[in-house]
Amino acid sequence: MSSSKKKVSVVFGTRPEAIKLAPVVLELRKRDRLEGSVCVTGQHRQMLDQVLPVFDILPDADLDLMMADQTLSGLTARLIESIDRYFTSERPDFVLVQGDTTTVFAASLVAFYHRIPVGHVEAGLRTGNLYAPWPEEANRVLTTRLSTLHFAPTDSAYANLLREGIDPNAVMVTGNTVIDALFFANSTVEKAPPVIEGISDSDWFLGKERMVLVTGHRRESFGEGFLHICNALVRLATDNPGVHFVYPVHLNPNVQKPVFDIVGCNRSNVHLIPPQPYLAFVALMKRSFLVLTDSGGVQEEAPSLGKPVLVMRRTTERPEAVTAGTSRLVGTEEDLIVSGVERLLSDLDEYRRMSGVANPYGDGRAAVRIVDAVESHLFGATEVLS
Ligand code: UD1
Ligand code: UDP
Repeated sequence: MSSSKKKVSVVFGTRPEAIKLAPVVLELRKRDRLEGSVCVTGQHRQMLDQVLPVFDILPDADLDLMMADQTLSGLTARLIESIDRYFTSERPDFVLVQGDTTTVFAASLVAFYHRIPVGHVEAGLRTGNLYAPWPEEANRVLTTRLSTLHFAPTDSAYANLLREGIDPNAVMVTGNTVIDALFFANSTVEKAPPVIEGISDSDWFLGKERMVLVTGHRRESFGEGFLHICNALVRLATDNPGVHFVYPVHLNPNVQKPVFDIVGCNRSNVHLIPPQPYLAFVALMKRSFLVLTDSGGVQEEAPSLGKPVLVMRRTTERPEAVTAGTSRLVGTEEDLIVSGVERLLSDLDEYRRMSGVANPYGDGRAAVRIVDAVESHLFGATEVLS
């Protein structure tokens, strides 16, 4: 590295972090004064590895930490020790993290111990309830306290940070980098539709039959919540034989077990498939009639594609799409999930109201704003956060 360059370590570990930081890594590559270095913790393994080739990213370091059915404490302990060794040998000038996973909290804490400034991408999301989402709400709050620059995706995230006493000069509204990633993926999908094994060549997929795309993985729903979600899917599939339900099942064993045990594979209109590479998942969102999910990223992406989102949670830190009318909270109760989906399947006016394209999460230029701000911070340029 030339002595005038500053090293920015981008640290991430899970699928959504990889998708949302990929545009930032690509933008860092364009800057002469910055050297981007990618460190993956491997909190996720297969689901992380599915993302990187889409964006042509090869990690500079891979801590390879995932263990089967890992506990929060065990994972946190491994992350802290391993990231500590990485920062000690790499000595980055700046660290970038994204979101609210255990990787994010651990990397921010270790960077703080090394007195390395942290930039937090997707800062300021809050539900105000430390147990929903659990443990992510705590990870967000703690990462905010440890960060130097805060990249808020929306005005309401910005307001949350100011309410907590964060210096407005350290906060910038950037939009969410997921929209940068989605635009990139969408243009690729339009040019060459990806193959979704066992699905994209089927008659129903190529035809007009309606499809509900489902994802679910939140820890606070493990146990009873997932039983309700699975029972709701069984009822919906039985009562609506002409509608297809496609569920790429998250690899967490606490998700796999109830979904495969209860929803099973022997209904012709239920398709339980492995987690999909990003381009295939974007193609599925585009093909869907509506999306039923507890995912954070999917809540942000689907409205940009004009797909109504029913959120299987009691609360959301992403109120913008609800306000815009394209998302609705249905909770995790079986009856509420069933009635929420059936209403959209049967009420065309309601469907039309919810399926207008809304893009409250960004304009596709978040990564440029973030890297501009990091460069200004490191080189003391006259440009300031605004
Ligand atoms: C994690 C994040 C959550 C994020 C989600 C995105 C934490 C505490 N949770 O939840 O905030 O929304 O990722 O998907 O940071 N597994 C595999 N292969 C994989 C990924 C997971 O086998 O590629 C299995 C392993 O058994 C692993 C388990 O899933 O131990 C749980 O993974 P973990 O990252 O701890 O939690 P998630 O539920 O994936
Ligand atoms: N996603 C994907 N393949 C899938 C399911 C989801 O690529 O099979 C993408 C999705 O488009 C979104 C991100 O993964 O960008 C969301 O990840 P997840 O739901 O695991 O985490 P969350 O956003 O809830 O933290």
